Amino acid sequence: MSITEVSNKPYDLIVFGATSFVGQILSNYLVETIGVNGDISWAIASRSDSKLATLKESLGDAARALPVLIADSHDEASLQALCSQTRVIISTVGPYALYGELLIKACAESGTDYTDLTGEAHWIGMMKDKYNQTAEASGARIVNCCGFDSIPSDMGVFALQQRAQAQFGHPFPHAKLRVKAAKGGASGGTIASMIEALKAAKADPKIRKKMGNPYLLCGSDHKYSIRAKSVSGPQFDKDFDCWVAPFVMEAINSRVVLHSNALLNMAYGRNFSYSEGMLCGKGLKGRLMANLTAIGFGLLAVGLYLSPSRALMERFFLPAPGEGPSPEVQLNGYFDMRVHGRDDQGNQLTVKVTGDRDPGYGSTAKMLGQAGLCLALDIKKENRAGGFLTPSVAMGDALLQRLQTHSGMAFVTCD
Ligand SMILES: NC(=O)c1ccc[n+]([C@@H]2O[C@H](COP(=O)([O-])OP(=O)(O)OC[C@H]3O[C@@H](n4cnc5c(N)ncnc54)[C@H](OP(=O)(O)O)[C@@H]3O)[C@@H](O)[C@H]2O)c1
Repeated sequence: MSITEVSNKPYDLIVFGATSFVGQILSNYLVETIGVNGDISWAIASRSDSKLATLKESLGDAARALPVLIADSHDEASLQALCSQTRVIISTVGPYALYGELLIKACAESGTDYTDLTGEAHWIGMMKDKYNQTAEASGARIVNCCGFDSIPSDMGVFALQQRAQAQFGHPFPHAKLRVKAAKGGASGGTIASMIEALKAAKADPKIRKKMGNPYLLCGSDHKYSIRAKSVSGPQFDKDFDCWVAPFVMEAINSRVVLHSNALLNMAYGRNFSYSEGMLCGKGLKGRLMANLTAIGFGLLAVGLYLSPSRALMERFFLPAPGEGPSPEVQLNGYFDMRVHGRDDQGNQLTVKVTGDRDPGYGSTAKMLGQAGLCLALDIKKENRAGGFLTPSVAMGDALLQRLQTHSGMAFVTCD
């Protein structure tokens, strides 16, 4: 990897929230892949000196010279100081709706590029409304959703459309993602973010309405001519000849993919449709599985939405912030998804998107790290203007290559 832009800032990259569950995995990954004191200069940051010292210790001798910086999400001056020292900030400090705004503001104002792992669509919408103009003016590329939500979806559709263009001369107006298999677990930070989003929806009908809007990130003047349909219950999918159930990440992933098309000036069409679901099998067994999965999904959502059941779940079986799947679970985890597209003439293609670690942590850390590196090293400021962008629009081909070369992901066209 080589540096492509000269900068007077000392770091190419700062990992803010390095002490979080996923931040620790990411720091370890970066030490292993880019090293310390090599061509790429980077630092770890968090609010806690002592936790950073413990993290550094755990990273071993190779990380002895890794610089450490202190900043707090509620202390704007400390965030501005981070921005003054780096070209890109990767943030894993979440729930982002609680801790994320001042960093977005500091990055937008200073022209510092930014990536994160948020899946909190209503919060991204709010931040875009408030800071998009500032980011456009300063040149800051603000790229949310650089983990399992929503890189496989957004980059999967990007790969599909590239291949449709090459093979059929046009992108497909219809695309869908189906999860074939996935193995992993959830962290306390992810659960906390889901709970925060549900609390916000419960407390404010306006937020609830926004969350239900598939075009939330596209702006009120978006040019879509159809209303997007999600997989809201068990249904039969003719393209896959299979029963499908709702997929929990669709709520964020579909908004990101629809945002990509809007940013591309509706390159996939004004009637572009996109949905996500989980493949549950064929015949009666598949139908039963789809129904059970949908019921389980509904029960989980209701359980987290209602305060008494949420308190019980938090007390007895949900992970607390800072906790998450073991290294063995991460190592033995994987995901296998299919992005299918078709046009109105009957042409179709499927791209198989896979990852070699658990989706939410092992793979997510690699995706996030490569997204940050891609912004810092591959995407020159003069080639991509600032503003709130999606991963595929901000980084396109360069990120697709990195994910396949360095993140254990594959995007393979199936017959
Ligand atoms: N998109 C995806 O696929 C994906 C996957 C995994 C996680 N996530 C998201 O990523 C985020 C992190 O998850 P996680 O499980 O790693 O979370 P976590 O372990 O709970 O970590 C949260 C981090 O926030 C830091 N923090 C809290 N308040 C702060 C403040 N005032 N100033 C500075 N730092 C502060 C904590 O610092 P201390 O260490 O000092 O407590 C900690 O490092 C969550 O929002 C989660 O939803 C997304």
